[in-house]
Amino acid sequence: MSDTPSITPEAVESAVSAALAAISAASDTAELKAARNAHTAEGSPLAALNAAMRHVAPEDKAAFGKLVGQARGRVNQALAAREAELAEAETAARLEAERVDITALPSRHRVGARHPLTLLQDQISDIFVGMGWEIAEGPELEHEWYNFDALNLDADHPARQMQDTFYVDPVAKHLLLRTQTSPVQMRSMLTRELPIYIISPGRVYRTDEFDATHLPVFTQFEGLVIDKGITMANLRGTLDHVARALFGEDAKTRFRANYFPFTEPSAELDLWHPTFKGGARWIEWGGCGVVNPNVLRAAGIDPEEYSGFAFGMGIERTLMFRSDVQDMRDMAEGDVRFSEQFGMVV
Ligand code: DAH
Repeated sequence: MSDTPSITPEAVESAVSAALAAISAASDTAELKAARNAHTAEGSPLAALNAAMRHVAPEDKAAFGKLVGQARGRVNQALAAREAELAEAETAARLEAERVDITALPSRHRVGARHPLTLLQDQISDIFVGMGWEIAEGPELEHEWYNFDALNLDADHPARQMQDTFYVDPVAKHLLLRTQTSPVQMRSMLTRELPIYIISPGRVYRTDEFDATHLPVFTQFEGLVIDKGITMANLRGTLDHVARALFGEDAKTRFRANYFPFTEPSAELDLWHPTFKGGARWIEWGGCGVVNPNVLRAAGIDPEEYSGFAFGMGIERTLMFRSDVQDMRDMAEGDVRFSEQFGMVV
């Protein structure tokens, strides 16, 4: 065969050194496999030299056989050695990659805390739900009619002035950010079956300063009862119960005559706070009264048949004197360290 190489020590040596160079250059087991194929498998120079043995004269067979055999032995040995070396390095690399430092500190996920306003709002809602009342909701972007007109606040009432109320442009649309939760009264009367027993916690907006005792966005809860034979006594009994549930057995309420357009008679509500930080005392808590017949009429309810009471309190204020918070701004800033002081209840 014309392409049969003739077996010379030089040809053998060059095939061996090419194989050894490829073997030591292999940097992983895949490359080593490729080198083994290229330098020992069929078609490789060494395999061709081995095949050429068939054409060697009988008297030369022993010498050439030894030459080629030793050459193949050296290459196989180098392959085995490199294979062991690479396998060891690869095992070491894998073990290093999978190493677990059992002395390392675990990365802890910080458990958040619910905001104290949310907690208090839930707690207040639970007290009313426990008496069989329902939670009612209303929009924060409200129509002027629900926020003022329907509540008997006429057009020149001071609360309607621009300095208190965030009106939404254009003013002619009569939309505003509700200044109180009281608009939920009318919404509930227009959509619910009688009798009505609802509590409505939620956000309200006023153009107030942002200081220790005012926030331009704050939270109120509104209560409304409409049923047959409801009087001021029912209002008083309800609020006394709520006061005791929130402030302990010794808490009680007192009314001071006041004016609200949507209740008649109306009262300023004071709370006797038995565990107040600076000693037990009366604290202004909110407003309340017997629902004004004009409001019932606006909702299409006959004031001869039904009567009701309503009340409204601020939740930020309640949190302040219940938990001795000095600065209302802490409730708005969202620092988790503030919330954590009220417990990690989730
Ligand atoms: N909406 C009143 C306010 O924001 C509070 C209030 C007073 C609510 C008397 C009432 C009420 O339901 O009867 O100042």
